[in-house]
Amino acid sequence: MLKEKFLEGKTAVITGGGTGLGRALAHRLGEFGANLVLAGRRVDVLNEAAEALRSQGNSVATVATDVRDPEQVDHMVGRTLEEFKRIDILVNNAAGNFVCPAEELSVNGWMSVINIVLNGSFFCSRAAGKVMIQNGGGHIINILASYAWASEPGVVHSASAKAGVLAMTRTLAVEWARHNIRVNGVCPGAIRTEGTDRNLWGDAKTRERMIERIPMKRFGTPDEPANTVLFLLSEYAAYITGEVITVDGGGWIGRGTYEMVDINDFG
Ligand code: COA
Repeated sequence: MLKEKFLEGKTAVITGGGTGLGRALAHRLGEFGANLVLAGRRVDVLNEAAEALRSQGNSVATVATDVRDPEQVDHMVGRTLEEFKRIDILVNNAAGNFVCPAEELSVNGWMSVINIVLNGSFFCSRAAGKVMIQNGGGHIINILASYAWASEPGVVHSASAKAGVLAMTRTLAVEWARHNIRVNGVCPGAIRTEGTDRNLWGDAKTRERMIERIPMKRFGTPDEPANTVLFLLSEYAAYITGEVITVDGGGWIGRGTYEMVDINDFG
């Protein structure tokens, strides 16, 4: 059982915190007492999300940030320190994705997703990590995807970027353990948000096909990966670093490697 307000006095920066998973995560961290910094590209979206959080009694700041730009990332960290004096938690949640066959993917399409997901996660980790090292510790949580180690035709850009972030998770976990910084990853599976409906599984036929493959036969809710993030930030996970927890209803293991039997035939 997580202690009530165990994040009180801590400051959490959430990239892409204005929408979808990031926004749900902000609400969960806020419920447990964290001060929140929402970083993202769209000021109106950030402000709207921040207002909703403030109306529930949370302390929230917003900083317009394109994580692809290291100067904007440094500015975001500076604003966080002005506002809350410290950074204890960074969640690298900002992402970009769309479905496109690899042979049709333009150079800009590739660069755009690699820049947001891989470079952006590093720029934010580096900038926040320096502060955490000075503070004597902290947490970095990277939002990953199981296709970082499996496969997902149609999103080679995102899969490649997430694979890089997976390697970054493990490498920084080792490098920064001596600074008391734990670095972990959470892999949400098929979660329905406005963004994933727009970019990935908007049509009902695709969703039906996906549910058929997921052993738990349903999509996840944004709160489910958010709860896993809470666990990783808690004392129950004090000895966990460089680890990745997949929250996908068994989605990536699916129907087995070769589908020797159809599980549905077992009744
Ligand atoms: N299929 C093929 N190519 C696409 C595409 C699609 N659906 N969407 C964008 N691209 C290409 C663009 O055509 C462009 O390449 P080009 O210059 O060769 O034409 C390139 O990607 C960059 O697109 P642009 O819209 O200019 O980039 P951006 O940096 O403003 O946007 C994206 C980044 C493409 C990732 C955009 O989808 C985004 O901002 N997403 C943020 C939210 C998000 O995706 N979250 C993840 C939810 S699952």
